[in-house]
Amino acid sequence: MSNIIIAIDGYSSCGKSTLAKQVAKALLYRYIDTGAMYRATALYLLRNHIDIYHPEHVAKALNDIHINFRINKAPQSQDIYLNGENVEEEIRVNPRVVSIVSDVSAISEVRRFLVKQQQKMGDHKGIVMDGRDIGTVVFPHAELKIFVTADPKIRTQRRLDELKEKGQNTTFDEVLANLAKRDHIDTTRADSPLKKAEDAIELDNSHMSREDQFNLVYDWVKQKIQQASA
Ligand code: DC
Repeated sequence: MSNIIIAIDGYSSCGKSTLAKQVAKALLYRYIDTGAMYRATALYLLRNHIDIYHPEHVAKALNDIHINFRINKAPQSQDIYLNGENVEEEIRVNPRVVSIVSDVSAISEVRRFLVKQQQKMGDHKGIVMDGRDIGTVVFPHAELKIFVTADPKIRTQRRLDELKEKGQNTTFDEVLANLAKRDHIDTTRADSPLKKAEDAIELDNSHMSREDQFNLVYDWVKQKIQQASA
């Protein structure tokens, strides 16, 4: 059976990473969360007081950023390391990272730097990667491309539940506004905006359980692997 590349793109808080992890686990493929790479880069720039509105300063700083993933717990759950330090937790809870990461991900120098590394990770295929530009830019020839969407109010409720579970106090309206802002930045930036690749399959999971979603996607995966192996 041939290994394939599975690209999963979509809006924030659509459940892309849950789906990507389930698929990677079932296939024993590597899972890469590219959002974590943008978050780790944002963390480095913050910690080193780099002015993100000066691309030449950012470009220089990128030379000092080394990002890698290590498996610490389950095989499909990797932690991200920034210059040797495990920053998996910090990149998700640090409010300053959360507030600047969309702007950092709009910087072309940052995108070129990270896309090159992501493409290298796909050299041997057998990979599930999620993000915003995986099917359009990182792997335009991926065998299976999925574009995940969900109703904004349902995404808001899911995100709110997640935040509450982590003990963070926020309101539905705040989360809705934050998602709308992120969607706007992600879809309107000049470099590699979030959009559905022409050959991607759209998956609206607003009213789907995780299990139903996985079963549907796994059927697509099996078909693509068969085609690639024929
Ligand atoms: O998926 P996430 O919320 O962890 O992503 C963090 C930010 O990085 C978000 O603003 C979108 C951006 N991003 C991107 O531009 N391209 C990717 N391939 C992945 C994430």
